[in-house]
Amino acid sequence: MTALRGEADRAALSTMLWGFFPAQVVRTLAALGVPDALGERPQGTPGLAGRIGADPGALGRLLRAAAGLGLLDHDPAGAWSLTATGELLRTGVPGAVGNLAQLFCGDPVWRSWGMLEWSVRTGRTAFEEVTGRSAFEHMAADPAMLAVFTEAMAEGTRAAAPGAVASCDLDGVDTLVDVGGGNGTLLAAFLAARPGLRGVLFDTPSGVLGASDVLDPARAEVVVGDMFDSVPRGDAHVVKSVVHDWSDERSVALLTRVREAMPAHGRLFLVEPVLAEDREGWAGQFGMLMSDLNMLVAVGGRERTLAEFGALLDAAGLRLTDVVRFPPPTGYSALRAVPA
Ligand SMILES: C[S@@+](CC[C@H](N)C(=O)[O-])C[C@H]1O[C@@H](n2cnc3c(N)ncnc32)[C@H](O)[C@@H]1O
Repeated sequence: MTALRGEADRAALSTMLWGFFPAQVVRTLAALGVPDALGERPQGTPGLAGRIGADPGALGRLLRAAAGLGLLDHDPAGAWSLTATGELLRTGVPGAVGNLAQLFCGDPVWRSWGMLEWSVRTGRTAFEEVTGRSAFEHMAADPAMLAVFTEAMAEGTRAAAPGAVASCDLDGVDTLVDVGGGNGTLLAAFLAARPGLRGVLFDTPSGVLGASDVLDPARAEVVVGDMFDSVPRGDAHVVKSVVHDWSDERSVALLTRVREAMPAHGRLFLVEPVLAEDREGWAGQFGMLMSDLNMLVAVGGRERTLAEFGALLDAAGLRLTDVVRFPPPTGYSALRAVPA
């Protein structure tokens, strides 16, 4: 009994330990453009290697590993094609995760995770040690990484948008401001769902990359600036996946700027996953627990419990009124707050 239990424990640990191998297979497929090339038509290793610029022998081994992971099929004539799972690595398909794979398993986030021990010992942000600057400064100066980041955020937000539209009550709202709204993917979903609504997308000059392709200029204005200085006014504000990028002190500063931009009747929807308080809850929160460590190594932020969000809102002069958990599959909640 003990020996069997020991084997099961060892197998469980091996799965964790080797997790970074398949992660690199997924990222490398996406970075080489294999899913997009095979999505057009199935093809053999030599033709594919010529097209994407890879060593045929090494590429064949990568493709074989990907087939073993269930991402590719291989027919008797030697042509590779995508399985339904592999399809999700194609650019722009519903549910796509190719840019998320490249962002989190590519440099410099990958090297930052290699310094998790350093971050845990020091409490500091490994990304800054790796690149010499913050993640947002780094991406503003690296167009290739910025493009991957922007599309990765949009990939995640496309999946979360139906839940956000269903969970954020915008009745009576004329103007919705999305603070740190990236390329406008979330705002576009709100505008599509509410024909009379006007939108304001607010982000840094590099953060709004591609917004003109996503938002209709007749319905939405794009404003660039620094949310730690000031935030555009509107009757409702949505702030999704932004507060988790920052320390408590910086989060209170940005929420205070939002509070200053809200009229007395204003409402704020903080859209973030909410971390459970105890082990029973953590068991179902794998993604969030890993994201919390990702925030530690990559940006110096953190995931938070409801009590922790409540304390930030209090300190910014806001009052948490209710929490709406998104319907599955995403683990987000909309935390609604009003001026205190
Ligand atoms: C994790 S992304 C989330 C993007 C978007 N809300 C979403 O959920 O897809 C964080 C966003 O905060 C923006 N941001 C970072 N620093 C900012 C600042 N000082 N002022 C305004 N936006 C900022 C980034 O450019 C980025 O678009």
